Amino acid sequence: MVAERFSWLSRIKTPSYVIDADLLERNLKILRDVKQKTGCSMLLALKSFAAYRTFPLIRKYLDGVCASGPWEARLGYEEFGKEVHVYAPAFSKEDMQEVLKYADHIVFNSFSQWKKYRGMAQKKKCGIRINPEYSEVKVQLYNPCAKNSRLGVTAGKMEDVSGISGLHFHALCEQNSDVLKRLLEHVEKNFGPYLRKAEWVNFGGGHHITRDGYDRDLLCSLINSFRKKYGVEVYLEPGEAVALNAGYLVASVLDIVDNGMKIAILDTSAENHMPDVLAMPYRPDIIGAGKPGEKKFTYRLGGLTCLAGDVIGDYSFDTPLKAGSKLVFLDMAHYSMVKNTTFNGIKLPSIAIIKKGKIVHCTKFGYKEYRARQS
Ligand SMILES: Cc1ncc(COP(=O)(O)O)c(C=O)c1O
Repeated sequence: MVAERFSWLSRIKTPSYVIDADLLERNLKILRDVKQKTGCSMLLALKSFAAYRTFPLIRKYLDGVCASGPWEARLGYEEFGKEVHVYAPAFSKEDMQEVLKYADHIVFNSFSQWKKYRGMAQKKKCGIRINPEYSEVKVQLYNPCAKNSRLGVTAGKMEDVSGISGLHFHALCEQNSDVLKRLLEHVEKNFGPYLRKAEWVNFGGGHHITRDGYDRDLLCSLINSFRKKYGVEVYLEPGEAVALNAGYLVASVLDIVDNGMKIAILDTSAENHMPDVLAMPYRPDIIGAGKPGEKKFTYRLGGLTCLAGDVIGDYSFDTPLKAGSKLVFLDMAHYSMVKNTTFNGIKLPSIAIIKKGKIVHCTKFGYKEYRARQS
């Protein structure tokens, strides 16, 4: 069964991200179901996943994209072709001029930015990002409502909202709908009068909708009652939930060293190719591998950079690893290729797309891309 699912593996040159279009579509059907049950609109957060060759598939299900600035906005406009919403902590004048070419919704992070650009953006639907001052995100790096956060306007700092048609908040990270329920209580308590004036409210991302065990019924009832109560259009802008479990990173073992334990050096890197492994931190699953000691042969998996902490984690296998062994890291489609770097001059992984087990596209990167990013 596993062998059948990974029949493409022998044809993949490493390192390579592999996006499985069928798994992506499985997620998209779940998201469409939420849309159909609630009438909400759903945007792909390009910061998470921007493999534009999959946009023809994604746009069959979702309503557009949310972008973090002019380049994502342009990619969304040119390659996705539906609604383009843009939010950034601040826009330079140049960025705003560019964003205006592509966006239909622009969300400002502060009233000073809104006042600066409201004249230029008068033909757009403009929103303000609010900071509900409530979140249950444990990792501070990912907590938009941490103390003194720069993201969004707190209730005490709200000003005249005439000319502003919508509100946006983002305060979840990989969370279930029970957290959204508590978050909405705070949003309603702190921003009630503004919600009543709004035409649209964007609930941001961080909804782990496509994960097993996510309570979609609760999500739907929260959206439905919110829409009914305030008469607003509701947007969700998930990134991770779109591409969750829909891609892999395939790497090869280059060498095995033994410095008190066996360490396999790979042709990939946590630092360069899967940065959330270090930032979150977390230990990605690998096909056929167990926890250290669970199977007969245990290894630490190390990256190719000079960074001492470029370690992916400790794993065990049924058979010994050797130079040339391929490893398939799971759930590597989101926040991976959008964030990767060429630190140490290490090559960027190729990006392959598979459909029905066949490789339908592969983008390769080389020295040219590395050189172009230096002076
Ligand atoms: C404003 C905003 N919207 C949407 C997202 C997407 O979040 P996720 O990929 O967790 O769904 C993020 C992630 O940081 C965000 O900052």
